[in-house]
Amino acid sequence: MTSSDYTQLEEHKAIDDENQSERELIEIELLLEGIHRLYGYDFRNYALPSLRRRIWHHVHVEQLQSISGLQEKVLHDRSCFERLVYALSIPVTEMFRDPSLFRTFREKVVPILRTYPYIRIWHAGCSTGEEVYSMAILLYEEGLYDKSRIYATDMNDRSLQAAKDGVFDIQRMKKYTKNYIDAGGMHSFSEYYTAQYNSVIFQPFLKKNIIFAEHNLATDRSFNEFNVIFCRNVMIYFNETLRNRVHALFHESLGHFGVLVLGAKESVNFSNYQSCYEPLDRNEKIYRKIK
Ligand SMILES: C[S@@+](CC[C@H](N)C(=O)[O-])C[C@H]1O[C@@H](n2cnc3c(N)ncnc32)[C@H](O)[C@@H]1O
Repeated sequence: MTSSDYTQLEEHKAIDDENQSERELIEIELLLEGIHRLYGYDFRNYALPSLRRRIWHHVHVEQLQSISGLQEKVLHDRSCFERLVYALSIPVTEMFRDPSLFRTFREKVVPILRTYPYIRIWHAGCSTGEEVYSMAILLYEEGLYDKSRIYATDMNDRSLQAAKDGVFDIQRMKKYTKNYIDAGGMHSFSEYYTAQYNSVIFQPFLKKNIIFAEHNLATDRSFNEFNVIFCRNVMIYFNETLRNRVHALFHESLGHFGVLVLGAKESVNFSNYQSCYEPLDRNEKIYRKIK
């Protein structure tokens, strides 16, 4: 083969690769469009690299060959769609996740909350509820639980059901106990749950002021006014358009001087609402609405 043959081969390969990625993009767009039109779930503004990875993973889980194959199955089989939603939602969480955030919340936000007659907190994208039970424990220990309402929402009804049940794997308690202590916990963590075989069930009193509800940040509207909104490890999966939609929703849903808790991985910087907040803690990305 001459060197010009090689150059031609390289060119053909580059064109093939380009066609392949263009074809893949079309397939992803058609899949997401179909899901939106048929089921009303809108994944069209999720960040492409992680969405693509999870879609391909699910193609293999369903033992299919292509994204088009997945599209066909999803459109004709609701249970396949439900499995895909679960796979796309990444329900990974833990109690007192990032303990330093909860410690900072105790130090910097609790004193503000003490001055309010009534406290409303929204956990958006609460997954299976570990973050919400952590907040219930923190408020209880600070003597604020009785005047609080916690709204725990997620788009994924399977995760929400697990959150409502409040039953967790006993194997995880060692890690959660450590997180609880690192987060400034004041009691013995085991006081809050009862062990049953391989699971633990959290004390029912922790649930009495929690309202669990389905809410989709991509499509649903504001539903109340809050003193605090938690939304951690959710917007990292969204593109800029969807992140701005969610920031608009949170801005509308926070009362005057309301507190937005995003956690270390996210920020209001580069959103359309950056100037509406001042930082209460720069490291933990806890903000206060100022306008
Ligand atoms: C990685 S978990 C984070 C859970 C918890 N906030 C934490 O930090 O431990 C992400 C959660 O966001 C939820 N989620 C993803 N897209 C959503 C949307 N459009 N509306 C509401 N929840 C969404 C998923 O279902 C999942 O439960």
